[in-house]
Amino acid sequence: MITLKTRAQIEQMAQAGRILAACHRAIAKRIRPGVTTWEIDQFVERFLARHGAVPEQKGYQGYPYATCASVNDVICHGFPSKEPLQEGDIVTIDMVVNFGGWLADSAWSYPVGAISRKARQLLNVTKAALYAGIEQALPGKRIGDISHAVQTYAESRGCGVVRQFTGHGIGQKIHEDPYVPHFGPPGRGVRLKEGMVITVEPMLTAGSYDVRIDDDGWTARTADGSLAAQYEHTIAITRDGPLILTAQ
Ligand code: MF3
Ligand code: CO
Repeated sequence: MITLKTRAQIEQMAQAGRILAACHRAIAKRIRPGVTTWEIDQFVERFLARHGAVPEQKGYQGYPYATCASVNDVICHGFPSKEPLQEGDIVTIDMVVNFGGWLADSAWSYPVGAISRKARQLLNVTKAALYAGIEQALPGKRIGDISHAVQTYAESRGCGVVRQFTGHGIGQKIHEDPYVPHFGPPGRGVRLKEGMVITVEPMLTAGSYDVRIDDDGWTARTADGSLAAQYEHTIAITRDGPLILTAQ
């Protein structure tokens, strides 16, 4: 069941989104060789507490941390670790912020120091694929229009599009209807309506899109060991166009 949000509810979610965006800006300044994702996770815990917000991922279906920290071939749901980041790594930090019971969800991939051209290209294409999808998020269009725009952008630039994880509706729960795949034909799926709030969160790879899950039951890696990146925004469908609630 899809729940439409009122303007007031969307404003609540935008408040969560502004805290989340500020947190990502602060993370961007902290990411460098030698820093651990465990330290970033601790920083996020303190940052959210200071802003009167709660890390919604912690405890969600047993997930143990405030953030997901996914390095290099990890696609998503990586655990923060005490292993220092190294020059040339890429790392995706994903989190869900709860502010007054309303949520916002955003993931961002970061370069660690100087990175290879190939890694830089993957980051650029993934971020642009996110915005290509968001551009389609207009009342009267369908979920499949978002999916198709992401896929065609990504594949035309030689990237793999992960199938196994999708965007989703969001509100007072992390995962609501509808699901938002990042691949598929246009003109299909749920028709977008004013008041829907969804995430668009393409996970792209420099190789194949096949996924392998580690023994921890969470960490999702590329099966072929290729690099993966992800950018995610929470957006509201409005008559004036997509409203990005987690814009940095
Ligand atoms: N933020 C994730 C998403 O974009 C949800 C992660 S669920 C968790 O859908 F349990 F790993 F935190
Ligand atoms: Co997320």
